Amino acid sequence: MTRLAAVIGSPVRHSLSPAMHNAVFEATGLDWRFTRFDIVEGGVPAALAAMPVLDIGGYAVTMPHKEAVAAAVDEIDPAAQALNSVNTVVLRPDGSTYGASTDGIGLVAWVGASGVEVQDQSIVVLGAGGAARPIIDAFGRAGAAEIIVVNRTRRSAEQAAELSPVARVGGVDSIPHAGLVVNATSVGMGTDDCPIDPALLHDGHAVADIVYHPLDTALLRAARSVGARAIDGLGMLVYQAVEQEELWTGFRPDPTLMRSAAERALSNSR
Ligand code: ATR
Repeated sequence: MTRLAAVIGSPVRHSLSPAMHNAVFEATGLDWRFTRFDIVEGGVPAALAAMPVLDIGGYAVTMPHKEAVAAAVDEIDPAAQALNSVNTVVLRPDGSTYGASTDGIGLVAWVGASGVEVQDQSIVVLGAGGAARPIIDAFGRAGAAEIIVVNRTRRSAEQAAELSPVARVGGVDSIPHAGLVVNATSVGMGTDDCPIDPALLHDGHAVADIVYHPLDTALLRAARSVGARAIDGLGMLVYQAVEQEELWTGFRPDPTLMRSAAERALSNSR
C-alpha cells in the first residue's frame, strides 16, 4: 500500500526534497516514500502519464521542468497558471493530475512563522526571475500593501510587476521605506556577495533571503549587524515542502522535522 512521491528535474542529485519528505514519513508513520527521477527535457508528458499507471501520488517539480509541467497537467491552480510554472503535481483519485505552485506561499508562511506580517506590509523584492515571480504573486495574494520590484534588468521587472495589482517597479531608493526586503536574485549563492548596499538597511527592516547555500549570506549578516530581523532561505525551502506534502497526503507536516533533515543533508553534502 506504500505510496510513492518523487522530485522530477535535471539534475536532481542534490535535491533536499527526499531528505525532508522521508524524514516526516519515517517519523510519523505515513506510509509514503520519496525518491528522485532525473527526467530529460521532453520527458514531462511521459512522467505525468506514469503517475496513474504506477500509482505515483505526487511530484515535486524542479528545473528545468516547471513550465513544461504547467502545460501538461489536467488542471492547474490559479497562481500556477498566472506564473506558468508548476512545482507540485498531485495525482487525484480519478487518475487526473493537478498542478500547483508552492514556492511563493512557502515564503509567505515562513515569513509569518518568523513573526513578520505580510498583510498590509510594504515589501521590496530584489529580482524578477523564476524565483521572484512566485514570491511577488504570493505576497500580492496575501494582502501586501505594496510590492516594489527592484531588478538589474528593467524589462523583466516590468513583466514581474504585472503579476500583482499592488506591485510596481522601483529602484534601490525604495528600500529604506519598506518593512520587508526579500532577496530573490541568485546573488550570494555560493559566494559572499551582497545584492544591495548594506547601508540601505536599518533596524526597522525584516530581511529575507532565498539563498540557503551558504545559509548565512552576506545580506543576512548585514541585516543582523544593523539590528534588522534576518530570515534565512532554508526556511522558504522547508515551508514550500510543507505545502507540497499537505497537498499530496492531506496532512500538514511539522516544519521543524523537515528543517533538521534539510540541515543534516546540507552538511553531509559538503
Ligand atoms: P531565472 O531565475 O529566471 O533563471 P537568473 O538568471 O537565475 O534567472 O536570475 C535570477 C535573478 O537574479 C534575476 O532577477 C537576475 O537579474 P536580471 O533579470 O537582470 O538578469 C538576478 N541576478 C542574477 N545575477 C545578478 C547580479 N550579478 N546582479 C544583479 N542581479 C542579478
